[in-house]
Amino acid sequence: MNGSAEMENQRMTRILFVDDEPNIRDGMRRMLRSMRNEWDMEFAESGEAALGVMDEWRSARKPFDVVVSDMRMPGMDGADLLARVKEISPDSVRLILSGHSDTASIMKTVGTAHQYLNKPCDPELLKRTIKRAFALRLLLRDEGLQKLVGQIGSLPSLPVVYQEVMACLQKPNASLGDVGKVIGKDVAMTATLLKLVSSAFFGLSKPVGTVERAVAFLGLDTLITLVLAQGIFKESPPINVPGFSIEKLWQHSLATAGAARIIAGQQGCEKTTLDDAFLAGMLHDIGKLVLAQSIPEQYGKVLAMAGNGIAMHAEQEILQTTHADVGAYLLGLWGLTDAVVESVAFHERPANAMTEGIGLPAIVHAADRLVHCPDQTDPDCEELGLDTRCLDDFGMRERWPVWQAAWAAHLAGGQQ
Ligand SMILES: [Fe+2]
Ligand SMILES: [Fe+2]
Repeated sequence: MNGSAEMENQRMTRILFVDDEPNIRDGMRRMLRSMRNEWDMEFAESGEAALGVMDEWRSARKPFDVVVSDMRMPGMDGADLLARVKEISPDSVRLILSGHSDTASIMKTVGTAHQYLNKPCDPELLKRTIKRAFALRLLLRDEGLQKLVGQIGSLPSLPVVYQEVMACLQKPNASLGDVGKVIGKDVAMTATLLKLVSSAFFGLSKPVGTVERAVAFLGLDTLITLVLAQGIFKESPPINVPGFSIEKLWQHSLATAGAARIIAGQQGCEKTTLDDAFLAGMLHDIGKLVLAQSIPEQYGKVLAMAGNGIAMHAEQEILQTTHADVGAYLLGLWGLTDAVVESVAFHERPANAMTEGIGLPAIVHAADRLVHCPDQTDPDCEELGLDTRCLDDFGMRERWPVWQAAWAAHLAGGQQ
């Protein structure tokens, strides 16, 4: 996903930078001069001034796309400003800039900022982050859905896993390993945690690709604050969508994660790819959770129309988008890696991915199919719905029986 200019060629991307320090605003202006043909940039010295600029833009019917705000400012701080922006313009991309001394306060923006950037900000990183976040809109062209997904601060977690995490964190002898294991079983908690540590804010040279490492990186104290005081995880209220079950999604996601890792292992992938495969498998259907939570009525119609079949056609017909696009859009907005975002986007139609190398979207696709039909040894069986032509491109079609046998052995071993 790159090159926002050609993708969004009708108009320039409109960006508002907010910082109370004049040198920082001047520096930012200078650093981003090269973008002036693509970006319409405005600089405000306070949260209040930023709201004024947004008002002007709104009355001139100019939508704004990105708000980059400093965290610590006199008067309205970055967290309050972004909360207001989220209300006024939920589809705008919201980035927060902060120094490391503010780690605790930055956590307050977990539900409002899409990503966090470290101050002083590297201009190239800022350009990349904005371009990438904006390019994602190609995945989700419907403005109503962009708004819905843009305003998601948290997703519902499976109640039993949520309770388990709470109990685990409240134990006097809580261990990071135990907490990580429990969090890693839940789709929403996995995505939220990865959102936090994927941010450039933490300045990690390599992305954190597993829940275990994310937990270890944050440390127990931060995690306890985040979960118990900030409430970053949310126990799912009953989701009333006929045909949708959060338990089933949970089981399916966990199984697909395991199957994707097994397939990647069978393909001789290295450790980081195995981790990516697991994470992408875990999150591949997160779009369903988004749809069930955000538009339960319409999503209910989709499921009724799809019956027992694959819901992609019904989604396309009723929503003009798919759970794959919705999920990828959310994860991209939250700063997860391209490998994961792409695998989620193309897990149903891996042939549309432009991946080179190992073909992670194809692996996640195969894992998803394998979990649906664990006994199917024939890759061409129609019920399986495997895109064998795509697998052919990676020389992987004949590998199906090997994967199927490995998954069957795994299941027989009683591990999930
Ligand atoms: Fe799916
Ligand atoms: Fe799936």
